[in-house]
Amino acid sequence: MLVSLLTVGLLAMAMQSPFPAAHAHELSLESLPPAAQHLFHSSMSYVSSYFDPSASYLLSSDPGTPGAHDTRSSAMYAVGLLLRFDEGDVERAVDIIERVAGTQYANASMPWYGTYPHAPEEPTSGGYYGDVIYTNWDPNWRDFIGTAWCLALATRSHLLPSPTIKTIERSLLLAAEGVLTRYQGRGPYANAVNVDNTKDNYDAAYTNPWLMSTFLLSYVGHRMGRADLSARGEADARAIYELFTYGGFDTFAEYNSGTYTGVDVYALALWIGFAPPNSTLKEYGTYMLRRTMEDLGTLYNAGLRNLAGPFDRTYGFDQTRYHSVLGYFIASLLPSPATPAPIPSSLPGSLHINDYACFPFLAAPLSGVVKAVTPGWVLDSFARFEKGAERTLKRQVRTNTVDPTAVRNVTAWLGDGISIGGQSLDEPYVRQSSMVAALIQWALPPKSSTPSQPPRVGYIALSPPTASVVHATASPGILEISFPPSARADGTNATLPSTVVFAGGGFEWAEYEHNAGKGLAGVPGLSVSVETSGLGEAGVAYNGSSSFNGFHSWYITYPVTASWPDVPSIRITVSR
Ligand SMILES: *[C@@H]1O[C@H](CO)[C@@H](O)[C@H](O)[C@H]1NC(C)=O
Ligand SMILES: *[C@@H]1O[C@H](CO)[C@@H](O)[C@H](O)[C@H]1NC(C)=O
Ligand SMILES: *[C@@H]1O[C@H](CO)[C@@H](O)[C@H](O)[C@H]1NC(C)=O
Ligand SMILES: *[C@@H]1O[C@H](CO)[C@@H](O)[C@H](O)[C@H]1NC(C)=O
Ligand SMILES: *[C@@H]1O[C@H](CO)[C@@H](O)[C@H](O)[C@H]1NC(C)=O
Repeated sequence: MLVSLLTVGLLAMAMQSPFPAAHAHELSLESLPPAAQHLFHSSMSYVSSYFDPSASYLLSSDPGTPGAHDTRSSAMYAVGLLLRFDEGDVERAVDIIERVAGTQYANASMPWYGTYPHAPEEPTSGGYYGDVIYTNWDPNWRDFIGTAWCLALATRSHLLPSPTIKTIERSLLLAAEGVLTRYQGRGPYANAVNVDNTKDNYDAAYTNPWLMSTFLLSYVGHRMGRADLSARGEADARAIYELFTYGGFDTFAEYNSGTYTGVDVYALALWIGFAPPNSTLKEYGTYMLRRTMEDLGTLYNAGLRNLAGPFDRTYGFDQTRYHSVLGYFIASLLPSPATPAPIPSSLPGSLHINDYACFPFLAAPLSGVVKAVTPGWVLDSFARFEKGAERTLKRQVRTNTVDPTAVRNVTAWLGDGISIGGQSLDEPYVRQSSMVAALIQWALPPKSSTPSQPPRVGYIALSPPTASVVHATASPGILEISFPPSARADGTNATLPSTVVFAGGGFEWAEYEHNAGKGLAGVPGLSVSVETSGLGEAGVAYNGSSSFNGFHSWYITYPVTASWPDVPSIRITVSR
């Protein structure tokens, strides 16, 4: 069976593929280093346990949605199957691809044109169902599925029967045409909470889908001879490169996120490894990925197995408890499968595991492309935190595509078993709860003597955000935060926050019980002193019924007593 498919596929490739077969060898699994091979095979095997043969879909691995079929992970897992090429893998991948492609929205006059339902059971938006973007349909699924399927065509066409190649090409064309409907513009703060939900927030400051779509447009434009798509891909590559390099900042607008920076790395690896030869993506992608990896090498604290804050958007405070896409790239780049990685050690029960069902088996094979542009010192920094190798980072981030004066400033300090990060921003609206502008992470005292035990990570996070103007700065052992009025001419909408809230956690009740009344100063494993100005006595509460993406925390809440022009502020000095 495999032999005959292979023959058909080789013929199909000779006739159809505009790419030299040379690309295929870049994703040979055998040539991957052991850590990447281990991640690839262990994730494929775990994710396979969610396969429902009656539907040819994966069931959701997320304990919050048991029993649901999941389009995105199924479509991406199909590419993992093609990469693995074990007995039965190609047939299973073909079934999944044909089924998923059959559910794609094909009406070109609808905003959801070219994207895919969350599950085969979900009705098309409108009619019997709602039509709210990101709720009833997800515009970014064009990109997740489309980019993964481009990778399948680029590296495993020779395994696919030609009708399936046709199915994929048609599906990719719809997805790419769907992307063309997105450029609607919500204005400068496109990712604030109170945006115009009737419009799409897609722009070059929405980094992760933009990087994926740009590749999709470029690849599909070239493969299908659609010069309009190629031209859009070129223009979009240029647009994000200009935003990245603006002011010499060399940062993406969606700066520092365990999840989304990981998606950026995935997309840029595709730019570098698989973009059409006559496009500029490889050149731009190489530059942007190298600079991004350098920042990650600085911000990653191997002693904590965690990226330091601040986070533009995050799903958690500790990457050993939640799955982050970046974690899979770092894990793949480690010297051995035994080197501690920023991945939860127990898969069942870990947070945000739905990303594990989509990304590790793509990240591992792509890690070779990433490694080729990553300086050796960055790889070293992923593997170990040298004792005494304290470091600081200072970066600026252009916030949006419209207003070049809207800039966020980032600082971070990393020491032995401790990271501190802060971000200063001056915006008209309080941002989403995923934004963590200030964060301290530290190693809690170990609970077990097992040498391979992951560190337990304590955290103090400025979360949820209550202010749209925050000045948070990290320096050695110090986090300083203040809440001034806006300094911007258009800053009249910024309001004085009524409270300043910190989420603290990672530790057990028995460790905090006797000191909880001290709030921040009572956390275990860290000596903390706090000076405030314009803030009242902090209240301390634990709310078991709510959490931040599954991170149950203590909430240390300071009432704001100052009024502008007096500026409320807090200075937190820590040592281990
Ligand atoms: C697309 O949707 C529009 C609006 O509902 C409808 O008028 C049109 O017939 C649909 N086109 C196709 C091809 O189904
Ligand atoms: C690359 O070549 C293809 C095929 O000739 C063409 O359609 C496409 O527009 C070109 N792309 C660029 C960026 O020049
Ligand atoms: C960021 O830093 C620049 C340069 O120091 C400064 O002009 C700007 O006001 C800062 N922005 C914020 C939001 O603090
Ligand atoms: C401030 O609020 C007003 C009234 O809601 C609005 O018209 C204006 O656009 C807002 N300014 C900014 C910078 O968002
Ligand atoms: C706990 O959190 C829930 C959800 O945010 C909220 O509705 C509830 O009022 C909170 N309870 C307390 C005692 O703070």
